[in-house]
Amino acid sequence: MKWQDGKCIRQATGEEQTRLLHMLEEAGLPTSDLQKDPDTRFLVAATDDAILGCVGIEFYGSLVLIRSLAVSAALRNQGIGSNLLRAAEEFSYDHGARHAYLLTVTAEEFFRRRGYSRVERTLTPLPIASSAEYSSVCPSSAVLMTRHI
Ligand SMILES: CC(C)(COP(=O)(O)OP(=O)(O)OC[C@H]1O[C@@H](n2cnc3c(N)ncnc32)[C@H](O)[C@@H]1OP(=O)(O)O)[C@@H](O)C(=O)NCCC(=O)NCCS
Repeated sequence: MKWQDGKCIRQATGEEQTRLLHMLEEAGLPTSDLQKDPDTRFLVAATDDAILGCVGIEFYGSLVLIRSLAVSAALRNQGIGSNLLRAAEEFSYDHGARHAYLLTVTAEEFFRRRGYSRVERTLTPLPIASSAEYSSVCPSSAVLMTRHI
């Protein structure tokens, strides 16, 4: 998807995996399960020669877990994160998902402003609760949020 000033959002290639892990580590986001689990699909915001940000998507039937949203520190507050989140929702919808879930420790307000609301963890749908991110990677203090897509 072309977007502006030579930037596009597209699916990540296999060769970009190492760069994505590095970007997530720099953003302080967990990566340990990603190294073992290749089932997470990634979209990247990119120019011809650089990756600006990324977002991960895990499908669980009509539910999707959106995770690993990160933008290079020097490029924040330019709309890249919002565009990546919207692209992840569109990609999820196009692949049959209707409810997006995510976990966040530090960005609850960012997601609330983009239509997500908090869910009690006791109400977590089983497929989401079974995900590695939910069950073992994210701290139990992480907030679970959802929106209809
Ligand atoms: C969260 C993140 C992806 C936002 O990316 P971005 O490209 O800066 O976002 P946008 O430019 O689209 O939006 C910027 C807006 O979000 C707000 N924002 C950014 N990070 C925020 C946070 N952690 N909490 C609340 N609001 C936040 C900014 O203040 C700004 O608000 P404004 O529109 O009122 O000025 C980026 O800050 C990041 O990579 N953070 C580290 C990783 C992270 O916490 N990821 C989310 C958890 S999965």
